[in-house]
Amino acid sequence: MTTFNPAEFAPTGLTPVEMAKFASARRASYFVEQGMRLGLGTGSTAFWLVRVLGHMVREQGLQIRAVPTSERTAEQARAEGIDVVTLQDVGWLDLTIDGADEFDPALNLIKGGGGAHLREKIVATASDRMIVISDASKQVDTLGAFPLPVEIVPFGWQATRHLIEESLLGVDVGARKSTLRMNGTQPYTTDEGNLIIDLHLSRIANARQLSLMLNQIAGVVENGLFVDICDTVVIGHPDGSDEVI
Ligand code: 5RP
Repeated sequence: MTTFNPAEFAPTGLTPVEMAKFASARRASYFVEQGMRLGLGTGSTAFWLVRVLGHMVREQGLQIRAVPTSERTAEQARAEGIDVVTLQDVGWLDLTIDGADEFDPALNLIKGGGGAHLREKIVATASDRMIVISDASKQVDTLGAFPLPVEIVPFGWQATRHLIEESLLGVDVGARKSTLRMNGTQPYTTDEGNLIIDLHLSRIANARQLSLMLNQIAGVVENGLFVDICDTVVIGHPDGSDEVI
């Protein structure tokens, strides 16, 4: 059990949406123990996790070694005084805490709205436990309304996109449209220098099957489906309350 107190960090003036994200991050911080090797997620909910942990490190003597899942989380964590290391440095992680774009009743996820799902999946699967922090809007009965990101290498990317689209014809996903993720007028590039194809589906009947199928296509690096990876979801609410499922 942690002897630290995440509740000591209490920002004011948050919008209801930010309060919900903060509440989930604060609750998840109770799972962090002294000396842990921790995976740090990416996104606007993970932002609050890094804020809370930074406070615990600076003010309460928490000692952790953290592996961030993106360059922007790494930058924020360093600025908060958190000891940032590589996965190679620590070999394995005790816990990863990250956001998600959708989670279903089996705690399968869509991730990668922030373009970091490749590192996020590597970090989460190299952890004893993964906790997702979220507001209630991400809870769905069936995954698929949120566009599913697929990270692909730049070489021959149009051919890879074609093969992805073709492969979708055989699976139960409702709508089938793909877009190349853009950053203004330029293709968005990930921290690994790759591109992202977003798949606009409507429901994913079999997440495991789709995930395996996508990852078999030459040029695909990783898709944003997290199947049997997440152990716990912490939902934060606009009134500052939370629930753990
Ligand atoms: C980034 C992710 C994020 O965890 C996901 O997009 C949720 O982000 P947010 O907390 O901002 O809603 O997968 O690649």
